[in-house]
Amino acid sequence: MKHLLSMEHLTNDDVMTILNRASEFEQGATPQLDRTYTVANLFFEPSTRTKTSFEMAERKVGCTVIPFDADFSSTLKGESLYDTVKTLEMIGLDAVVIREKHDEYYNELLEGINLSIINGGDGTGQHPSQSLLDLYTIYKEFGKFEGLNVTIAGDITHSRVAKSNAIALQRLGVNVNFLCPPEWAGDFEAHHSWNGLIEESDVIMLLRIQHERHRVNANFTKEEYHKEYGLTFERESKMKDHAIIMHPAPVNRDVEIASELVECERSRIFEQVRNGVFIRMAILETILKER
Ligand code: CP
Repeated sequence: MKHLLSMEHLTNDDVMTILNRASEFEQGATPQLDRTYTVANLFFEPSTRTKTSFEMAERKVGCTVIPFDADFSSTLKGESLYDTVKTLEMIGLDAVVIREKHDEYYNELLEGINLSIINGGDGTGQHPSQSLLDLYTIYKEFGKFEGLNVTIAGDITHSRVAKSNAIALQRLGVNVNFLCPPEWAGDFEAHHSWNGLIEESDVIMLLRIQHERHRVNANFTKEEYHKEYGLTFERESKMKDHAIIMHPAPVNRDVEIASELVECERSRIFEQVRNGVFIRMAILETILKER
C-alpha cells in the first residue's frame, strides 16, 4: 500500500489487517519501522481531530514531523498542490497527509510524485482514516460486521464520512440505512423519517450539517432539523439496549444530537477520537514500512 486515498481501494482483508494492527497498538505493541521517516500534514481545510490525531500517531511510530501551515505556504502565492508536494518530496519527506476541498485532489499528484499520500479528506469525496476508525469502533463493540444494522443520518450527499463508510460497511456485510432531508440524499436511496430505524439499528451514526458546502441555504432552522432528523431524548430511549451512538465530529450540539446525549452511556463519540490514534498508527506503519 503506497498511498491511502479512498476506501474503494481497500479490500476487506486490507481493512481487517489495519484494524487488527490498531488493536495491537492499543494493547501496547511497538511500531516496526526500520528507520525514522519524515512526514508533514498539509491541511487546506479546518481540522481539529484528523490533523492532531495524525500528528500524535506520527510521533508514536517514531516519525519526524515537519510543520506545515497552509495559511503561510506558497500555495497562497499561486503554487499548485503538485508543485507544493513535489517540493516537499525533494526536501526529503517520505509521506504527507493532505486535506483539500476538491474531490479527488490526489489524482493530479499520482503521476510524478514519489512520496506517499494519505488522504485526510477530499471535499465531499472520501475520508478513509475516519472510516477505518469508525470501523474499528464498531468492531471493538460487536466483534463482527456481518448482519449489523447501521443508520447514517444527516447531510449525506456532502459527507465524505458517509460515502467512505457506505462503501466499507456494505462490503463487510452491514445493512446500512441512510436518513436525511430529501435535498441531501444525492445518489443515495435514503429514508426521510426515523420510522422504524431507531428500533432496528445497532449503530446510529450522526453527521454534521456541512453548511460550508451548500450552494443554497437549508430551508429549515436548527430547531426544525433537530426535531425532524436529530437524535432526541425520545428517539434515544427507543434504541436497542446494546445499540451505540457515533458521530465523526465536530458535533453541533442540539442540532444533529441533543447535547446531553453526546457523552451518554451509549455514545462512543469521544471513544472514536481515541481510537483514531491507534488506527492512524496502523495506517502509517503499513504505508511507511513498504517504502
Ligand atoms: N472527524 C473529522 O474529520 O474531524 P476534523 O475535521 O476536526 O478533523
